Amino acid sequence: MAARLLSGHEVAEAVYEELRTRLKEHPFVPSLRVIRLGEDPASVSYVRLKDKRARALGYRSQVEVYPEDLPEEALLRRIQELNADPGVDGILVQLPLPRHIRTERVLEAIDPLKDVDGFHPLNVGRLWSGGEGLFPCTPLGVVRLLKHYGVELKGKEVVIVGRSNIVGKPLAALFLREDATVTLAHSRTQNLPEVARRAEILVVAVGRPHLVQKEWVRPGAIVVDVGVNRVGDRLLGDVHPEVAEVASALTPVPGGVGPMTVAMLMYNTWKAALLRRHGVPA
Ligand code: GUN
Repeated sequence: MAARLLSGHEVAEAVYEELRTRLKEHPFVPSLRVIRLGEDPASVSYVRLKDKRARALGYRSQVEVYPEDLPEEALLRRIQELNADPGVDGILVQLPLPRHIRTERVLEAIDPLKDVDGFHPLNVGRLWSGGEGLFPCTPLGVVRLLKHYGVELKGKEVVIVGRSNIVGKPLAALFLREDATVTLAHSRTQNLPEVARRAEILVVAVGRPHLVQKEWVRPGAIVVDVGVNRVGDRLLGDVHPEVAEVASALTPVPGGVGPMTVAMLMYNTWKAALLRRHGVPA
């Protein structure tokens, strides 16, 4: 039996439809500012997608491009200006940053109320302590996608492979908030295939093409592939296609989690705009 393919495009469209309804209910135009340094082709392409989608929804969106050798202090000053600009709701600095820039300093400089990536330590703390805040887009997208397809999370055995600050760690927090039992596995985990095989829901976010083989997957498991690996001119996930023979459902690459990341950024931008207008505790 072949796994059901869980399309992210379908769910992203549902998110956009919901946002269009909310935009009609609340008469404000969310505004997004994306900062990109240098010309890394993947970053150029991701930033273009975000900007295009924001404009399609009627948001005000602007991309600021700076040379790769922009000094850290200049970037921090620009962020302070955008923090102070009442016309800007959301600020996103595309990662990875050049090596001479300390990423934590940049992320900590963004006003937590405008932090549409959810990477500021205040938002990270709120995510883990159960509070309200802005949370990372890809993890939000994974949970939203599973819920859309009717996957129950409460009490489920979830294994996440990959412990990045962008995906693995915040996703563990979100699944905990949904009352799942979470294992956060990584490159140093002993017997990784065995650990992965415990999962009723297996999420893979490591950036190693086709790492997860069908022997790693419990028959009937739901598998979410967050991997985006450019190999030659092909885009490969972290999950081997043969996994479709044992999983009950699987997200494709491309067309699975990818579209959800952009959709949840649009949601976060709308939420930041709403929260700032209605005020939230600092
Ligand atoms: N680079 C890869 N993923 C992301 C993301 O979610 N946000 C930002 N800002 N940069 C990224």
